[in-house]
Amino acid sequence: MAAARHVAVLVGSLRKGSYNRMMAKALAALAGSELQLTIVEIGDLPFYNEDVDADEPPAPWTAFRKAIDAADAVLFVTPEYNRSVPGVLKNAIDVASRPHGRNAWSGKPGAVVSVSPGAIGGFGANHHLRQSLVFLNVPAMPQPEAYIGGAAGLFDEAGHITNDGTRTFLEGFMKAFAAWIDALSPTKLEAAP
Ligand code: FNR
Repeated sequence: MAAARHVAVLVGSLRKGSYNRMMAKALAALAGSELQLTIVEIGDLPFYNEDVDADEPPAPWTAFRKAIDAADAVLFVTPEYNRSVPGVLKNAIDVASRPHGRNAWSGKPGAVVSVSPGAIGGFGANHHLRQSLVFLNVPAMPQPEAYIGGAAGLFDEAGHITNDGTRTFLEGFMKAFAAWIDALSPTKLEAAP
């Protein structure tokens, strides 16, 4: 068996009962064996400040940059805050994009899933995030798009997705992401025996 691709998962909510965190865990379970998903925590990253970076970067920044460096790909699972990306996620993006010339995101295949209790599924956050990903040189999978609305009724108490149609869609999303990563990766996965 070929080694699985390591996908760093960034969750844009710190809330204990976060639907986005539930979605990230559900995606990890739905993904095929060719992808290994790990949530990289972002809640303890101090706000980005170039002065501090030039002096002595805080340990959480260094650890986070290493975690992104080590990943084969990145998956963003985020709510929408005021039609945009939550500050905590934007901060994490900024931290790993610096110092200048050491952008840890560069070249990593990416994908975006936005999740909201609302009807339009975090479309605004999804596309504001994609704007940053262009600048960061993250090739973000264009299709399928994933704007997941109605999140309050989507999970059972164990965090499983209750809607068959949504689960099937997300399985297809993860298959497409695996193919996207493979197509963009310098070393190809060996064919399964
Ligand atoms: C929100 N929420 C929200 N929802 C949405 O669909 N569009 C929006 O623009 C906003 N704006 C917004 C701003 C702020 C500051 C908060 C705290 C919330 C509601 C949001 O989708 C809801 O709280 C989700 O449950 C957040 O995701 P998690 O924490 O469940 O993953």
